Amino acid sequence: MNQDTLPRALRVGLLGIGTVGGGTFEVLRRNQDEIRRRAGRGIEIAVVADLNTERARQVVGEGVEVVSDARSVIARPDIDIVVELIGGYGIARTLVMEAIAAGKHVVTANKALLAVHGTEIFAAAHARGVMVAFEAAVAGGIPIIKALREGLTANRVQWVAGIINGTTNFILSEMRDKGLDFDVVLKEAQRLGYAEADPTFDIEGVDAAHKATLLSAIAFGVPVQFDRAHVEGITKLQATDIRYAEQLGYRIKLLGIAKRRDEAGARGIELRVHPTLVPAKRLIANVEGAMNAVMVNGDAVGTTLYYGKGAGAEPTASAVVADLVDIARLHSADPDHRVPSLAFQPDAMSDAPILPLEQVRTSFYLRLRVADRAGVLAEITRILAESDISIDAVLQREADEVDGEGASQTDLIILTHETQEGRMNAALEQMQALPSVLQPIVRIRKEELA
Ligand code: HSE
Repeated sequence: MNQDTLPRALRVGLLGIGTVGGGTFEVLRRNQDEIRRRAGRGIEIAVVADLNTERARQVVGEGVEVVSDARSVIARPDIDIVVELIGGYGIARTLVMEAIAAGKHVVTANKALLAVHGTEIFAAAHARGVMVAFEAAVAGGIPIIKALREGLTANRVQWVAGIINGTTNFILSEMRDKGLDFDVVLKEAQRLGYAEADPTFDIEGVDAAHKATLLSAIAFGVPVQFDRAHVEGITKLQATDIRYAEQLGYRIKLLGIAKRRDEAGARGIELRVHPTLVPAKRLIANVEGAMNAVMVNGDAVGTTLYYGKGAGAEPTASAVVADLVDIARLHSADPDHRVPSLAFQPDAMSDAPILPLEQVRTSFYLRLRVADRAGVLAEITRILAESDISIDAVLQREADEVDGEGASQTDLIILTHETQEGRMNAALEQMQALPSVLQPIVRIRKEELA
């Protein structure tokens, strides 16, 4: 490759130089020769905007301009691509929209912004003929957007299911390994730096739901609809249920799931994040610690699995830089012949609805604390039978004596076959009303992921 005949290097304005920004700077610097050979031209960070200019200067040294005003970067005609690494829906949204309006391509790791305001952002980018690339927004370094949008493009995707939040997977792994409850492990995770000081978005499932929303859009060609997602985190999960699940051959993982449903009466897309029993023999059940993994099932390819680091400076930078290389390769192409942002052509999006939770179909794990006396199991199985919910397995522990009169209680664990959420809700209401059911029933959804 004759360097003298290459087009000039693409000039990048980096907004926000925290962990991922620093990683992006370092990867671009370290691998610049390989990147130039792949992209056909250099890619250089020309200016960095960060409120903390001192920190920014420490990261980039003297060779790169540092400013505190992000807007001044967007206004510069010599900047080709804006990389937004600020996060959140506030100023980041304004800056992304302004960058698009100014005709800049945008690379962002901001899943919250795209999951909530993606429709507006992608429409503006399409109208202006610029690209918005976001590989780093889902599962960090795993090229799952690329896989879904390009590698699997022949397929009618049936479902996507992933461990797409490292913090919660770390906590669940620790709960299982050490038999500890959620609160204890969360404190430890914060001490070790695996969980943020304010871990709400992670532990309540919101971060995973942002990512699942983006995956649903790319898998099925539906608009991003975070507000329709069912979002349930891991805060109520008990070590007892992790143990029982283990005895039945399952692990509990926080999964982000997007699934196509074609049955009459329930045609649409399931979009949900919740703790899920997964057969222990599945590879994804064995993804431990802060690692991420995503499964995709397509009609032609069958089930595929993608595994790697979902966060961290250089794994996330790996995705940011891949997007920069994509833009370097495609930016001169006619906008209508680029890979569409959401995999499907903007005028060919589907209006398949996101189904309400009542219509979602899964199998279930139930734990009932019951009085240990004759007929209790029969009462419960009668309700399930009358609700047309089929039982897959039952586990009953030896009774524990609990009071002076010898009355004893026991845990009854039931695995069901697949049923509709609404049907299960009605059955749970009846079971909960039985005098022999002594505590709130625990219900966790189960997926076979075959
Ligand atoms: N907070 C995220 C996680 C990392 O725990 O996976 C960035 O998406």
